[in-house]
Amino acid sequence: MSNPVIRPRRLRTTPALRRLASEIRVHPAELVLPMFVREGDATMPIQSMPGVVQHSIDSARRAVVAAAEAGIGGVMLFGVPEVRDATGTGATDPNGILNLATRALVDEIGDALVVQTDLCLDEFTDHGHCGVLASDGRVDNDATLLRYRDMALAQANAGSALLGLSGMMDGQVAAVRETLDGAGYEDTAVLAYSAKYASAYYGPFREAVASTLTGNRRTYQLDPANRREGVREAQIDIDEVADIVMVKPAGSYLDVLAEVAGMSPVPVWAYQVSGEYSMIEAAAAQGWIDRRRAVEESVLSIRRAGADAVLTYWAVELATWLKEER
Ligand code: PBG
Repeated sequence: MSNPVIRPRRLRTTPALRRLASEIRVHPAELVLPMFVREGDATMPIQSMPGVVQHSIDSARRAVVAAAEAGIGGVMLFGVPEVRDATGTGATDPNGILNLATRALVDEIGDALVVQTDLCLDEFTDHGHCGVLASDGRVDNDATLLRYRDMALAQANAGSALLGLSGMMDGQVAAVRETLDGAGYEDTAVLAYSAKYASAYYGPFREAVASTLTGNRRTYQLDPANRREGVREAQIDIDEVADIVMVKPAGSYLDVLAEVAGMSPVPVWAYQVSGEYSMIEAAAAQGWIDRRRAVEESVLSIRRAGADAVLTYWAVELATWLKEER
């Protein structure tokens, strides 16, 4: 009986060796915190996302300061309006909650991190869909693009540096880019939610934005079965001159993420969504998993699969842990 010659365990012998042999690490600068800002003075908890709240503009101001102190790269803002209508008027109103919050946070934080905005109609429509509806009730792609163009102008005007196009309409990147360039916003960047799947993991988010949606988004978001189509969507957005492409959700779509990371000439981000957050929080609250280790492993895995940056509801807490670790 001969002993093994190849001994991969050698590099796992001590903490110092393991640290040196680690292939990647997560850095606070590549974390983005999604934030919900509601109309009104009160900060409201979100039952299905323990630890996450709907901010008032005032509490959002304090949170963005804390986020910058933690060293994270940016925040992604979602608005929760009081009133909704068929075309999502609040999204393009300069005094709509999302545009107001954007102005307030840019004013508060300046350039210490990147203030980004969700560009989608679902928080602002009374039917809860990401676009406007045709008379037969279907989501009207091209009529929605006109609304997205106006939203882009309102958000750029409010000071958003990066517009997160999450509506999954065909041609949305090209339409928004053309509008921005035509209005002198050449430097406002576009983050394309390219491969966004129709996922059960968005469940808690629907509570977070008090969504009115009945039905589903399967006529515009991707079928979870489709990897090739996800890569194609990324290619289309790259051709339409997206500055960054994204895969969403993250944890269940690491194969898509790895393939997009392999082909993309622009940065590739991933969104660790509400359900991914809530599952770990729920299991940890039961004492069934080690919360901190599970959080760290989940984000590390998304980085390992190829994401250059990660949107995660743990961004600030994780950044704080990373600083402790050196
Ligand atoms: C659409 C949007 C959604 C999420 C981000 N942007 C909801 C949806 O597509 O149903 C989900 C994010 C999450 O679950 O954390 N504006």
